[in-house]
Amino acid sequence: MRFSSSVAGVLSLLCSQAVAFSLRGRDLESFIAAERAIALQGVLNNIGPDGSQVAGAGNYIIASPSKEDPDYFFTWTRDAALTMQMIVDEFIFGNTALEKYIDEYIKAQAILQTVSNPSGSLLPSGLGLGEPKYLANGQRFNGAWGRPQRDGPALRAIALMTYSDWLLRNGQSAKARNIVWPVISNDLSYVGQYWNQTGFDLWEEVQGSSFFTVQNQHRSLVQGTKLARDLRVTCTGCDQAPQVLCFLQSFWNGKYIVSNTNTNIARTGLDGNSILGPISVFDIDAYCDSLTFQPCNSKSLANFKAVVDSFRTAYSINAGIPKNQGVAVGRYTEDVYYNGNPWYLITTAAAEFLYDAVAQWRARHVLYVDETSLAFFKDLYPDVVVRQYNSGNYNSPFEQIMRAVLAYADSFVAVAEKYTPASGALAEQFNRDTGVPLSARDLTWSYAAFVTMAERRAGQYPRSWNTRQAAAPPATCSASSTPGVYAPATAAGAPNVTIACQINVIFNVNASTYFGENVYIVGNTTELGEWNADVLNTALALSAGGYSAERPLWSVNTFLPAGESISYKYARQENCGQPYLYETQNRTLTIPPCGGAAITVEDAWTGPVGTSGGC
Ligand SMILES: *[C@@H]1O[C@H](CO)[C@@H](O)[C@H](O)[C@H]1NC(C)=O
Ligand SMILES: *[C@@H]1O[C@H](CO)[C@@H](O)[C@H](O)[C@H]1NC(C)=O
Ligand SMILES: *[C@@H]1O[C@H](CO)[C@@H](O)[C@H](O)[C@H]1NC(C)=O
Ligand SMILES: *[C@@H]1O[C@H](CO)[C@@H](O)[C@H](O)[C@H]1NC(C)=O
Ligand SMILES: *[C@@H]1O[C@H](CO)[C@@H](O)[C@H](O)[C@H]1NC(C)=O
Repeated sequence: MRFSSSVAGVLSLLCSQAVAFSLRGRDLESFIAAERAIALQGVLNNIGPDGSQVAGAGNYIIASPSKEDPDYFFTWTRDAALTMQMIVDEFIFGNTALEKYIDEYIKAQAILQTVSNPSGSLLPSGLGLGEPKYLANGQRFNGAWGRPQRDGPALRAIALMTYSDWLLRNGQSAKARNIVWPVISNDLSYVGQYWNQTGFDLWEEVQGSSFFTVQNQHRSLVQGTKLARDLRVTCTGCDQAPQVLCFLQSFWNGKYIVSNTNTNIARTGLDGNSILGPISVFDIDAYCDSLTFQPCNSKSLANFKAVVDSFRTAYSINAGIPKNQGVAVGRYTEDVYYNGNPWYLITTAAAEFLYDAVAQWRARHVLYVDETSLAFFKDLYPDVVVRQYNSGNYNSPFEQIMRAVLAYADSFVAVAEKYTPASGALAEQFNRDTGVPLSARDLTWSYAAFVTMAERRAGQYPRSWNTRQAAAPPATCSASSTPGVYAPATAAGAPNVTIACQINVIFNVNASTYFGENVYIVGNTTELGEWNADVLNTALALSAGGYSAERPLWSVNTFLPAGESISYKYARQENCGQPYLYETQNRTLTIPPCGGAAITVEDAWTGPVGTSGGC
């Protein structure tokens, strides 16, 4: 059972009246109350091993129960961390039953940090921490993927630091210091060492620098500085915070935030990325002119308008909605995944962003409207001018503006409500033309995002992460990095891995393939799936990114244990389930000893030619 019969009763009552009352304030209130409970339960149902929707999963937060079209039955470090942040906040707000999920997460993540994977390993230099996802049982995932993704370690550290701060204030500093901090420390080391290198964005498509990633990296280092001081431990990597903040400013192009830089994709850069970022670094104590791009910041507001407006004309379900009302919001208008649709989690994030901003203005008792933010406010309160608005009574312009922004926020929730089925189930997306849910069902992140939105609307704010004390950026930004210190978090349950060293190995193979065929490498190590291409996701997948008429190149850039001799061969498969075809010969390779430079292996396919499949 996904939810109690009383909740179901409220909901079916609601649905029978939805047409008549869908946009009325009281009705939205009861929708949010019912859906918040469904959403929290939806999250718990997707957490292994006991969650009702994820039988067979280990102790991990699974992205969705969907195993095909699309297969999301994995644990992503980012999705899991954002979900855990919500669980930690709910726990701190009073839902004490959730603590067991936090304890299990700490242990499971300590173990996961030590799992060697295609991005590398924990030792000696932390590279494995950038791996985006793992099998539902916590084993490495060898499929071709956009890796590394550098937001995961920052987000996991943030969730664990928020909990550690609670431990500290509740007489459990020893647990925070001895058990949780070693997990956090690995992640902050990773951030400090690699923030200035490119990686894949949160949508796993663009290799470059992602605003969302950099914004959360900065938060993690500032929060880490404070927590390390409180726990009397050393934060390796936290010294990079001012440089990260300096770099963060470069995403602003004078009009809006360009979400992906250091890349040359053909897009405007307007992306839900830059709405999700500000809400995940929201600090109720922050000043709106903080360089951290808080929701109440003028640049964040101008960007919010630019991103939301880009979707007004992108989807037919948004047609005719006036500018002072919310619309369905997706990832970016050039999106082609499932034909490009609005996402529940981004539509509710738009509401959360606005609730956050109002909370910050009310906490500061002042709103400064400037040239940058003027257009945002004009849509909602046409009389607005560039000036300082001090808080006042119910009829004051300040309060009128606050109410206009809150009504605007509610209207985004009403859009999400309109396209939520009667059961309350939240998939990943809803159709741009019909509003019908699609892609992965019961998406954990959709549910978590609904809960955090409902928290902010209800006036529940996480404690400050110390934005006011964040060190100012240097006058000139420079490229930099602090070498990390990595160790398995054994006190939290990690195995005491001692793999001393891995070597970066690039396999290039010339293999002429038919459209739809894929090429893998198998061999006698766990990294290469122990010869077994048939076990889903264990053979290491190669990428055809460099394939051309001149050279039929398949390639993979990976890490293998230093000093070992391995035996391997390539395999190919039509992508509709035909048997694998293997090379006839076994190849051997000796990996250089520890400390050796990266090597590139050049091979040419020998063996059966593939088929055009015809599927
Ligand atoms: C590294 O930092 C410098 C200085 O902020 C910046 O110009 C550069 O684009 C950054 N590169 C990456 C990949 O983060
Ligand atoms: C882990 O292994 C290292 C190296 O063998 C050893 O020095 C250390 O004491 C071990 N730690 C634990 C907690 O067993
Ligand atoms: C893998 O094959 C190589 C080459 O035959 C051999 O030297 C090595 O011992 C094998 N490794 C394992 C784990 O069997
Ligand atoms: C390659 O190695 C596999 C696994 O050890 C073995 O079964 C197979 O016979 C070998 N093939 C050749 C051609 O040596
Ligand atoms: C792969 O193809 C390229 C381009 O045709 C060629 O230069 C290279 O020698 C080939 N590599 C091997 C190992 O055959």
